[in-house]
Amino acid sequence: MSQAFAHEEVVVRRGSRSGLPLIVAIHSRTLGPAVGGCRLRRYDTWQDGLADALRLSEAMTYKAAVAGLDFGGGKTVIALGKDTELTADLRRAALEDLGELIASLQGSYRTGPDIGTGPDDMVVLRRFSPYAHCAPVEHGGTGDSGGPTATGVLAALHAGARHVFGDASCTGRTVVVSGFGSVGSGVAAGLAADGAHVVVSDVDPLRKKAASASGYRWVEPGHALSAPADIFVPAAVGGVLSKATVPRLAAPLVVGPANNQLTEESVADALAEHGVVWIPDYVASAGGIVYALSRESEHYGHEAAQKRVEGIGATVSHILDLARSNGVTPQRAARQIAEARLVSAAS
Ligand SMILES: NC(=O)c1ccc[n+]([C@@H]2O[C@H](COP(=O)([O-])OP(=O)(O)OC[C@H]3O[C@@H](n4cnc5c(N)ncnc54)[C@H](O)[C@@H]3O)[C@@H](O)[C@H]2O)c1
Repeated sequence: MSQAFAHEEVVVRRGSRSGLPLIVAIHSRTLGPAVGGCRLRRYDTWQDGLADALRLSEAMTYKAAVAGLDFGGGKTVIALGKDTELTADLRRAALEDLGELIASLQGSYRTGPDIGTGPDDMVVLRRFSPYAHCAPVEHGGTGDSGGPTATGVLAALHAGARHVFGDASCTGRTVVVSGFGSVGSGVAAGLAADGAHVVVSDVDPLRKKAASASGYRWVEPGHALSAPADIFVPAAVGGVLSKATVPRLAAPLVVGPANNQLTEESVADALAEHGVVWIPDYVASAGGIVYALSRESEHYGHEAAQKRVEGIGATVSHILDLARSNGVTPQRAARQIAEARLVSAAS
């Protein structure tokens, strides 16, 4: 994150019902209302939660800009203390506090689920305003975003495969999917349908059972990165790609939904030097937000929203072409595309 204070607005409020620190960071509304999920988790200090909200809201600006959305970047953090017990009553009180805060922003910021919150929590927020996306379908939302996110990852993956292997199809290719959760399982199913050899990894032993029931091969998490493969899909936690882990990577193409895959920006250069094409995570993982905003805010039907999600493939091809012709990493090319949109909208 840059040193200058780049955010348009940051609200930090002690919830009147919950007593918890609520942070809504709005990085940019240059392209439209700010969007970004609501993170409810423990932090050592509330200031750590503030730092997270500042960093994540900036990333949302770039995610929305590259995805071609007319929305800006924001993020909510509800910061739990190290020893705070999150009872059902405290959770509801915090969500009611947040619902009131979001309503006061009058649509200039919209939220959705993130770590620690889910579609049911959006129902509580929607009692105060319509600006909470991905509530369950029976409550007027589009529900869990894992499916559309997986569709976007698959579109990005096929575009990456065309660039690296000269063929978008994954038939006969070996793909390691690290993290067999909501998005990873959808990506694995799409790849299997395309005739790929799918290898799955997860820290949860129950997921191992589910993976073998689906007929996938298994690799232990400690060996996922170095397992021989054509494509590696990070679909678990952030921070998997560092200067220390990049030399162990066996696959020449890395594309997946996990947020903040690089431990630091310069790892993008290390990946390129190691001969790996890395599709920036915020480009590959945009399917969920593209689908939810298209359906819930822009009133697209399912088919049209799905097509827009599949458009992530064309975005990735554009990024990779630009990277190749300008001799820069895909990370830098994606950033250039986002900045061009932001500069043109601001002028
Ligand atoms: N769900 C979405 O719409 C969405 C959108 C954008 C980005 N993402 C990101 O994509 C990633 C996956 O999201 P999800 O919704 O599928 O989450 P999830 O919680 O459903 O699944 C994550 C899986 O990863 C496993 N896991 C955790 N640590 C691991 C490790 N070290 N090695 C291997 N497996 C590990 C977990 O056991 C779990 O099964 C997350 O980083 C998330 O932030 C998700």
